[in-house]
Amino acid sequence: MDIHITNLLKKYHDKAVVDIDHTQFKSGFIYGITGDNGAGKTTLLKIIAGLERYDAGEILYSGVPLEQGMMKKITYLSQTPYLMRTSVYENIVYPLKIRNIDPMTIEKKAKDIMDELQITELKNQLATQLSGGESQKVALARALVFDPEVLLLDEPTASIDPATIDTIEEAITKRNKQQKMTVIMISHNMDQVKRMCHEIVCMKKGKKISIKE
Ligand SMILES: Nc1ncnc2c1ncn2[C@@H]1O[C@H](COP(=O)(O)OP(=O)(O)OP(=O)(O)O)[C@@H](O)[C@H]1O
Ligand SMILES: [Mg+2]
Repeated sequence: MDIHITNLLKKYHDKAVVDIDHTQFKSGFIYGITGDNGAGKTTLLKIIAGLERYDAGEILYSGVPLEQGMMKKITYLSQTPYLMRTSVYENIVYPLKIRNIDPMTIEKKAKDIMDELQITELKNQLATQLSGGESQKVALARALVFDPEVLLLDEPTASIDPATIDTIEEAITKRNKQQKMTVIMISHNMDQVKRMCHEIVCMKKGKKISIKE
């Protein structure tokens, strides 16, 4: 799915927190969003996910405005992952259950993603009692398990140990290549952005700025 943004404006209490003339996110590419704290990165991602209203402008998803059906193809992973008060396994299979996937496929997909992200041993643990990094991995598993067309990640490896960061980066890059998944990822880690992203969008006070290499 391609995403085109034109003249997007979002204000909080009369202050413009996102003010972008034009930018596009093409299918099959990985984009990195960087910028200082408060630059408007999370707000932009939430707007793209359809979770936040905006005051003016237009966002087109493969040429059309966001509709209910499309929201099911987009997944947004929050900076502070929210997990349901059930087991890790139930959290991961939830997106598949609501899409009426058959039980055998659900079991296989859940097993594969848990193996891939090395969280199988957490399977029966209560998701609300995980450590910060474990929560982030489970939330990522839940985001990836249904093969979304658009993956929006807000600092996905912020509290992940260095050894596991590689695993997560691989899981994201693999799906981007195999399924032409569009990935937009906020990260303060420039090395990570350079490693993973085809293009970098830098934000400053709500605006997109060009970056000097
Ligand atoms: N619900 C809200 N009500 C009022 N102001 C808000 C709200 N959400 C965000 N803001 C303000 O909008 C600005 C942009 O916030 P945003 O969370 O998008 O920044 P960010 O670039 O993601 O920052 P960080 O790197 O710290 O995560 C900030 O000044 C923030 O205080
Ligand atoms: Mg943020």
